[in-house]
Amino acid sequence: MSAPEGRPEIRLGIVGLGLAARMVLDSLVDDPRIAVVAGADPAEPSRAEFARRTGAAAYPDVAELLDAPGVDAVWVASPTRFHRAHVEAAAAAGKDVIVEKPMAPTVDDCAAMVTAADKAGVLLVAGGVRSLDPAFAAMRDVIGSGALGTLRHLSATAHTGWLLRDRAPADLDESLGGGIVFNQAPHQVDTVRLLAGGAAVRSVLATTATWSERRPVVGQFRAELDFDGGLTAVLCYDGHGYLRSTDLVRVEGPASSVLADAGLVVASGSRGAVRPHGDHLQLVTDDGAQDIPISPGDATTGAVAELLAARRPGAGPPRHCGEWGRATLEVVAAIGESARTRTRVLLAEKGLHT
Ligand SMILES: NC(=O)c1ccc[n+]([C@@H]2O[C@H](COP(=O)([O-])OP(=O)(O)OC[C@H]3O[C@@H](n4cnc5c(N)ncnc54)[C@H](O)[C@@H]3O)[C@@H](O)[C@H]2O)c1
Repeated sequence: MSAPEGRPEIRLGIVGLGLAARMVLDSLVDDPRIAVVAGADPAEPSRAEFARRTGAAAYPDVAELLDAPGVDAVWVASPTRFHRAHVEAAAAAGKDVIVEKPMAPTVDDCAAMVTAADKAGVLLVAGGVRSLDPAFAAMRDVIGSGALGTLRHLSATAHTGWLLRDRAPADLDESLGGGIVFNQAPHQVDTVRLLAGGAAVRSVLATTATWSERRPVVGQFRAELDFDGGLTAVLCYDGHGYLRSTDLVRVEGPASSVLADAGLVVASGSRGAVRPHGDHLQLVTDDGAQDIPISPGDATTGAVAELLAARRPGAGPPRHCGEWGRATLEVVAAIGESARTRTRVLLAEKGLHT
């Protein structure tokens, strides 16, 4: 529910004012529940652009943002290698946090971020992932309704231009949380984990491939996930950009972001299948076909909604809590490990039933 006009529910500061911040800013500025009140970035041009767009104060240092009056929560959109330090600092300052994907370069970093938030008694939302889009909440509802019978298989196939966009060296360095697996697999892993109802991923078998002459680093991955209970998922991601998912299926608006990042996503059950298709879900079962509308919004408003809901007295933790994000990164890291070692990686992850 929106706050009455002029009375936002939360005053947000944004740490890191680059591409990711620019991508979420329109949704945040348009959201009556939110007031964007501060930003932090060492780069003056990024601060100037942010101040122009929002009218909010922009600081060169995160500590100044955290000291500024009237910041309730922080959206961490700095480079991945700084996420842990920035989440820990925000938590220590008593701020709730939404952190971009990938949550951190390592699973240990994620665990430390969860601990820092718990210790400080603040909320941590593992945001920036496409699974926060209303399309996937709607798919989850369809699956939960039993319309598909028993859920058997999930697939996500994405073709994007991720690899060949302009990139700083750190964006491609896996040790710093860069590279296509760390950056893009979270969208697909998070989505299938959500659709699987938070069942535990038991094992991962994956390959990665390097074939671009223009940028000879990993540009493609493929992963099979086995969930507790027998459900399987296959993720395919090709970042070379010659043909994109949005060329294969033409859709407008926020739906194109879902398609671009998570790809073509299909959930198949014993008596039907469902997929997002533009502004609706296409559901086909033994009883016939139907289009199901998807609520308006996007992954940014989805993250905000989870944070706001969890801030209400007596509410439980957000679905995309820090522990959820840690578990997703564990699967993402297992994709890299499986590809490197050419073995199936067994995971000990506990299921988070959502
Ligand atoms: N959710 C998505 O779809 C999405 C898209 C792009 C990036 N991301 C994620 O967002 C994060 C940032 O990526 P990006 O593409 O915006 O990178 P970017 O390089 O465009 O922007 C990062 C910004 O952070 C600033 N910065 C650097 N050090 C900082 C510090 N110590 N404190 C505060 N700011 C600092 C930089 O000056 C820059 O303006 C990464 O974790 C990335 O994976 C998510």
